[in-house]
Amino acid sequence: TSNQMWGGRFAAGPDAIMEAINASIGYDQRMAAQDIAGSRAHAAMLAKSGIITDSDAEAIREGLLTVLSEIESGNFAFSTALEDIHMNVEARLKEVIGEPAGRLHTGRSRNDQVATDFKLWVRDQMDAATAGIEALIKALLAQAEAGADWVMPGFTHLQTAQPVTWGHHMMAYVEMFARDKSRFEDARRRMNESPLGAAALAGTSFPIDRDMTAAALGFDRPAANSLDAVSDRDFALEFLAASSICAMHLSRMAEELVIWSSAQFRFVTLSDRFSTGSSIMPQKKNPDAAELIRAKIGRIFGANTALLMVMKGLPLAYSKDMQEDKEQVFDAADNLMLALAAMEGMVKDMNANRPSLEAAAGSGFSTATDLADWLVRALNMPFRDAHHVTGSLVAMAESRDCDLPDLSLEDMQSVHAAISADVFDVLGVHNSVASRMSYGGTAPARVREQVARWKEILG
Ligand code: ARG
Repeated sequence: TSNQMWGGRFAAGPDAIMEAINASIGYDQRMAAQDIAGSRAHAAMLAKSGIITDSDAEAIREGLLTVLSEIESGNFAFSTALEDIHMNVEARLKEVIGEPAGRLHTGRSRNDQVATDFKLWVRDQMDAATAGIEALIKALLAQAEAGADWVMPGFTHLQTAQPVTWGHHMMAYVEMFARDKSRFEDARRRMNESPLGAAALAGTSFPIDRDMTAAALGFDRPAANSLDAVSDRDFALEFLAASSICAMHLSRMAEELVIWSSAQFRFVTLSDRFSTGSSIMPQKKNPDAAELIRAKIGRIFGANTALLMVMKGLPLAYSKDMQEDKEQVFDAADNLMLALAAMEGMVKDMNANRPSLEAAAGSGFSTATDLADWLVRALNMPFRDAHHVTGSLVAMAESRDCDLPDLSLEDMQSVHAAISADVFDVLGVHNSVASRMSYGGTAPARVREQVARWKEILG
């Protein structure tokens, strides 16, 4: 038997394999609520515009609510033969209300319908990502505030560079995640135009009111070009691109947590709630959540690449290729939200190991730059010369297997005679971080300023 939605010109039904490759109901049923919201807005507009009667619109409205509650309560039999969520809903509506159901699709196509449904779904995910990031930022701010003056080593090349504060390190992530948040917010603003009423590709001869449906669905305006409206998936790509960058940031932070929680570093203790054990090694406490967050970038960036490849080279307007958009975005969204929530939980629970951080902060000649800066300030030495003198002192300390503050004044003077005892003031890690008061620097006072700024921004 041929299809009840489009079977007029068909003598035979589809091959089972055709049905299998064509159907999207297995996953696009996730857009049921969006589909029904779009149909309700469309039906109300058709009635207001005099295209269908008020009583038909009322029947459609009631029927759609019935279908929605069937779906939400799990009492809906999804059919692969009916391809997708749009036709499943409409076919069930026909069973529930009869003839008026056939008038719902006036002045509309599945092409603008699916674009609308998917946009509504992605828009919710933009908001979910924004909220998830904000929660994570708040957890980071709490860590930064508590540890604004805890010292730790700062690294470049993962080699000890200069002492920084725990708060400063946490605030670096705040900046990164705040940019991620603003990317989702930007993308949301750009995407918020309604495709509904673009119909198949050319618009419609019915006197529809696209402003009305746009407003009903929370869009800022109708999309201005019907061809573009049905063939645009930029909103999904922007979601995936923003998700990819955010997942990249999450993976960097996750990697640091994996390193920091190792027995060799001991910078942090992760909570039992976000760790797992080993079935053979009784001592193990593994940072699995961090590792999985670190890995999520793989599938999220994969989704971004996959959808870009799907869209590449597609002629205008709609092509069935575009049905391949949804699974990628669904999977990326699910995993991004999970990763954000897991990171928030880990950050909230984690305990910085202050003695380890402080001991590490002072090792590895971390205040060598402070020493060079002192030579510049106290002895008016050109920085390049100061760099050289300091390098000699580091070599001396290294040969004696000690740190810079362990050298005696006589040792120092053997390298440069004018060095005086107050040099030792700058070799301590607390003095080092406190001195870095330049805007954006690691000094506790600067960190507290930034914490206050972000708290005010986030309200
Ligand atoms: N299931 C389709 C999709 O996800 C809906 C649009 C189908 N449109 C069409 N002309 N066959 O893209």
